Amino acid sequence: MLSLSKLAILGLGFISQASAVILQNGQVRETYFPNTRLESFSPSSYRTYPANASEISYKGRWDSKYVSWWSAPGIKFGYTGQTVAITFGNLTTDRVLVGYRIGGLDWIFTNITAGATHLLVSPETPGATLTAGPINPWTFELRVTNWAYGIQIDSVHVAKGEKLIKIPDFGRRIEVIGDSLSAGMYTSYEGLSSWAYGLGAGLGNTEYTVTGYPGICAADQDCWGNPRGQVHQWFYTSDTSWRAQPRTMGLLLPPPADIVIINIGTNDHNSHNNVSTSAYIDALGKIIQGIHGKWPKAQVIVMSLWLGFYQSGNTYLPNAPEGWVKEIQDLVKWFNSDKYLKEPLVYDGVTKKTTKLRPRKKETPFVHWFNTKGILQHNDMGPQWHPTDVGAIKVASHLQEFVRMRFGWELEATGPEVWHETEYWNDESGY
Ligand SMILES: *[C@@H]1O[C@H](CO)[C@@H](O)[C@H](O)[C@H]1NC(C)=O
Ligand SMILES: *[C@@H]1O[C@H](CO)[C@@H](O)[C@H](O)[C@H]1NC(C)=O
Ligand SMILES: *[C@@H]1O[C@H](CO)[C@@H](O)[C@H](O)[C@H]1NC(C)=O
Ligand SMILES: *[C@@H]1O[C@H](CO)[C@@H](O)[C@H](O)[C@H]1NC(C)=O
Repeated sequence: MLSLSKLAILGLGFISQASAVILQNGQVRETYFPNTRLESFSPSSYRTYPANASEISYKGRWDSKYVSWWSAPGIKFGYTGQTVAITFGNLTTDRVLVGYRIGGLDWIFTNITAGATHLLVSPETPGATLTAGPINPWTFELRVTNWAYGIQIDSVHVAKGEKLIKIPDFGRRIEVIGDSLSAGMYTSYEGLSSWAYGLGAGLGNTEYTVTGYPGICAADQDCWGNPRGQVHQWFYTSDTSWRAQPRTMGLLLPPPADIVIINIGTNDHNSHNNVSTSAYIDALGKIIQGIHGKWPKAQVIVMSLWLGFYQSGNTYLPNAPEGWVKEIQDLVKWFNSDKYLKEPLVYDGVTKKTTKLRPRKKETPFVHWFNTKGILQHNDMGPQWHPTDVGAIKVASHLQEFVRMRFGWELEATGPEVWHETEYWNDESGY
């Protein structure tokens, strides 16, 4: 977003070794990351599945070499026994922090070494030795916390005589397209503390992909070191990080989403990037037409932008103007106009062509505007202009309710939406 430190952070991204020190209000957070790396691995005591085993489900963006991209990508599978080990390929970012869990239990975080095998589930792992529980078979889920770093799956191992079990995808699917605000920048566990994660996990029984990357614009130009904008990059498997060489790798989109949430434009709006209003609106419109071309049945929610707060005398006020509020609303109106719905246009970010969608019958409106005004307050934003953990939870909760009211999706998570280490409590009374 706004600050110069964004440049520093993006610059840091060019170091290919991750660092898992977490800062909390400027101090090093005490963390409990088990060391899961196996010093020696003897394949004969395991049953091994290759990365392409049909039992392993890939969540979010992955390429054909089983390398992960963007924010909070992951894998999920069922398993028998009390052992899960994973061998990570050499294209893994060395020491990348991942979160993993059994069933709906809390996340466990650990550093991954490129090319190494990690024993992630053993009888000592919370939940591993339980013999009964509502989530059956036992599931293992792992997600990468950082948008720029990635993992490569080489193979998955269970104990000899045990097996992996394919877990069918949930019946609902959301896609979030955005920048640092969606990717989880400056929240405690980054992607796994982002509002985008919380939205997917909190709706429950929902698959989610977070195609967000810090600093990226909607418009296709360099913004804060991202060489391309989302109007280009969304159509590609890889993100805009240094890992992607060239930056046009792969055309594997996730399966069609039912609902796509777009939160993009804060970087376009920043005068540093010099994106004109018309270039921004053109790019946002093409992103929506791109989604409509790829996933004709998807409903699209465009979020209004927020730009942080400042102290004004004896209170706090949002930074004005909030960012192209009227222009975004007008674009949504245009998509819902008779003129557009009679002759809908679709955009292909690879060929860069806009074509008429020649159907069929008149389309029904599919673009919705979500007004974020009043959700975040001054102390929901950290000093680096991004939501705090609490701010992210607020955004996720309001979006969940919007989705429930607009599309009738009941909130089906009844426990397992876990925001790691956000349980603040007071068990002392009367002071
Ligand atoms: C994880 O990585 C961080 C930073 O590289 C390091 O400080 C920490 O000790 C590592 N933790 C483990 C368990 O290896
Ligand atoms: C996985 O890859 C191997 C080697 O390329 C191939 O023989 C096998 O059929 C693949 N399995 C699946 C389930 O695609
Ligand atoms: C990583 O690279 C090394 C050296 O090229 C190779 O011996 C090893 O098998 C590779 N490991 C994986 C998991 O790809
Ligand atoms: C910003 O954009 C305008 C219009 O395209 C152009 O004239 C100007 O030179 C640009 N400024 C910078 C600093 O790139």
